[in-house]
Amino acid sequence: MTPVGAVDGRDEQLRRLRADWETLGAADPLWAVYVKDGARDGGWDVTEFLATGEREIADSWARHAEVVGSPPPADGTVLDFGCGVGRLGSALAARSRRVIGVDLSEPMLRTWPDVVPSAVRPRMQPVLSSSASIPLRDASIDLVYTSLVLQHMPAELAVGYLREFLRVLKPGGTAMVQVADRPDTSVKGRAFRFLPPGLYGWLQQRLLGYPAPMRMQQLTLDDVAATAAASGGRILADWEDTSYGGHWHYRRILISRAA
Ligand SMILES: C[S@@+](CC[C@H](N)C(=O)[O-])C[C@H]1O[C@@H](n2cnc3c(N)ncnc32)[C@H](O)[C@@H]1O
Repeated sequence: MTPVGAVDGRDEQLRRLRADWETLGAADPLWAVYVKDGARDGGWDVTEFLATGEREIADSWARHAEVVGSPPPADGTVLDFGCGVGRLGSALAARSRRVIGVDLSEPMLRTWPDVVPSAVRPRMQPVLSSSASIPLRDASIDLVYTSLVLQHMPAELAVGYLREFLRVLKPGGTAMVQVADRPDTSVKGRAFRFLPPGLYGWLQQRLLGYPAPMRMQQLTLDDVAATAAASGGRILADWEDTSYGGHWHYRRILISRAA
């Protein structure tokens, strides 16, 4: 593991985010990565857990091929941003030369050996970073991939990471970015829509027994498009991502960096 910027959180938002994800990762890492009924307290079956990542990446590769004319390069370097315990990274590494998994929660990265299959492990590099800048060189990455991450932070941080994705991408490289673009109309969806994050975070802990709050933040296609356009990126396609429920609608957005 390469510790980078582990203690240089730029401001209070990042410090809090790191503290919450360290608590969540230490308490129940697989459940915190993918919240599902019956998966609390170590209830996820690791094979089924990895299969959810494999299904998602297979679908994303097919979409990429459909839109761009080819899947992401098999000899490419992928940034798995907010990689957690390596659920998606394992499937990304099966299709790429190298996967750099960046995460701010040390307990999440510590769980990799329990989850990541040994066959793909040599192609994966975990990087611990709690910085607002991604500790990678400009134009060094072929594909940026992120799911279930940008939604858990204040919008200004998420927008900053979108700019960072475009900075680290090689010209002609692509980013497949997932955002939670609107809550659904269920009671919990309405709570996310109308209650301030501090209050529903408190309710998550008091009523639902979450070890730490899990913030949900809306980011729309327009937000992403505006940031991409200002950072040398272009939206190639977007579609509804139905892989996850959880009282939100998700969109996956395929962005290219100008060649
Ligand atoms: C819900 S989990 C999803 C993990 C993984 N993307 C997946 O889908 O399997 C969110 C992850 O994002 C990480 N994370 C949250 N904010 C981050 C940040 N600012 N920088 C890096 N990682 C972050 C958390 O520590 C956690 O591991």
